[in-house]
Amino acid sequence: MNTTGKIYGYDEDLWYDVIRREWKSGDRDIGRILSILRRLNAGKSILDLGCGVGRISSRLAKNGYSVLGIDLSEKCVTEAAKLANELGVAGSTRYLVGNYLHLEELTDERFDVATCILASSWNSMVDLKEFLKKLAGFMNPSAVLIIQDTVNESFVQTLTSCPAAQRWFSDEGGLLALHSWSYDCEHSAVKTEKKFYRSTGSGFAFITQIERTYCPPYLSEFTDAIGEAGWEIVSVERPTSFNPVGIGDYNDPWLLFSATISARLK
Ligand SMILES: C[S@@+](CC[C@H](N)C(=O)[O-])C[C@H]1O[C@@H](n2cnc3c(N)ncnc32)[C@H](O)[C@@H]1O
Repeated sequence: MNTTGKIYGYDEDLWYDVIRREWKSGDRDIGRILSILRRLNAGKSILDLGCGVGRISSRLAKNGYSVLGIDLSEKCVTEAAKLANELGVAGSTRYLVGNYLHLEELTDERFDVATCILASSWNSMVDLKEFLKKLAGFMNPSAVLIIQDTVNESFVQTLTSCPAAQRWFSDEGGLLALHSWSYDCEHSAVKTEKKFYRSTGSGFAFITQIERTYCPPYLSEFTDAIGEAGWEIVSVERPTSFNPVGIGDYNDPWLLFSATISARLK
């Protein structure tokens, strides 16, 4: 995955810039995650799988949880540790570089909660199924799992009914990203074209264009995989409305493309 210096087709530096840019959007998700944790009376130790730059894990730590974050990208992990320091939660966060599919090589601890936020669909469903079984061995009794990821149903709903989510841009930290997204109903596939530019001070210089066509998993594939691995589904949440006037939503439709599944270890 990360052996050629690339992460999912991106140069690692660009990957890190893209993920770092999204740090600020954590408030979008943390309320929902905290409300699930409180509703399920979850314990305090959390394993954050694919933690990126600590967008979620730092916020969890701010709310009294202790978090171990794991990510493929060393730069992301370094930034996550830096953020935790800045936010005064270094004492309740730890970060490791590695592939969470090989969790046994990274830790032998047990956790009350595992979160995997926008970090599971990069792996194949076969890998994910195997991993979820393995994960159960790293959890305390009645542990909670929260997976938020993009699902086919949410793409269909958003991309076919909401023009604002078909072309959008983000411009932050000197990195301009122009996104173009479409849904191919015949093949149940999502097509993305992303063009990246870096600010030169007087304008923007083109860096690269990344195109991807893929068939995102259906929600039922996630819930089946989770159930087969020994977890009981507790809730599934999908966005029900879209406010195209809100600039935050307009420029950041990830929530609209995704679903949040919570489960408890049987
Ligand atoms: C879209 S980002 C989301 C990051 C973070 N969860 C958040 O919500 O801000 C996905 C992250 O998952 C990481 N990732 C994906 N598959 C992984 C794996 N198998 N092991 C470790 N990290 C992984 C990527 O490196 C990336 O930083």
